Amino acid sequence: MVIHTTKETLTQALSLKRNNARKAGKNYKIGFVPTMGALHEGHLSLVLKALEENDVVVVSIFVNPTQFNNSNDLEKYPRTPEKDLSLLEGITKDLIIYLPQVFDIYGDDVASKQYDFEGLEFEMEGKHRKGHFDGVGTVLTKFFQIVEPTKAYFGEKDFQQLQIVKKLVAVNKIPVEIVGCPILREENGLAMSSRNARLTKQQFEEASLIYKSLTEVREKFDSHSIADLNKIVAERFLQNEDIQLEYFEIANEDTLKTALEKANATKYRAFIAAFLGEVRLIDNMPLN
Ligand code: PAF
Repeated sequence: MVIHTTKETLTQALSLKRNNARKAGKNYKIGFVPTMGALHEGHLSLVLKALEENDVVVVSIFVNPTQFNNSNDLEKYPRTPEKDLSLLEGITKDLIIYLPQVFDIYGDDVASKQYDFEGLEFEMEGKHRKGHFDGVGTVLTKFFQIVEPTKAYFGEKDFQQLQIVKKLVAVNKIPVEIVGCPILREENGLAMSSRNARLTKQQFEEASLIYKSLTEVREKFDSHSIADLNKIVAERFLQNEDIQLEYFEIANEDTLKTALEKANATKYRAFIAAFLGEVRLIDNMPLN
């Protein structure tokens, strides 16, 4: 496993590989898995998929400061680089790791660019985490310039992020295929997330309410109105004072706009954000 801490050495190594392949008449495929570390099986499933579909895989580990709208959240974000590296090494020694410091990515200008994601950025997370998607767009644009991946892999747990990244590359004509990968879950249904590491044992158990509510909504989707489903979920959360619902929404999967009524030939997904103490978790589930 080769670890690069600067974009210079990483780009040199990747150009060498690309040029050698070109000389041999081959099209060299680079898979890219961007992460903020604190890796779990969900991340590892992205890496395994990328390994199946590419000649080489680059994994970045970088807690991106510009996508945090809350300095406490940035400070408390779990950082476990040694464990991350050993998990990755456990999969294969053939990975390229990019583990930069903030300066290597941003220089002296640790700021986001402003993006127009054609309205996707104003829904759900966009309402509650101002500037978050500008930070994600900024760092990913930089990563895509450095790595020049053929395909980049993202988990569906951050479904809004996945749709926004697809929009980012389409609008800016960035030549990379964005691959969405299914959510991996703990035994109690909780979606795997780096933030789960901050939950107490009790909070971890209580957090299964998120999954249970999404499942209930999926089961009742055909027989209940959206207004009724909203009410059912609100009530479930009111019954548990250890978990605070920030939002529950049923939204159009493509536009991410809140659905008030069901329309024909439209795909819907349910989305939840909830707090257990200071820890904010999100999850989602397709409904039809
Ligand atoms: O999903 C994440 O972990 C981050 O938003 C990403 C895509 C690595 C960008 O910092």
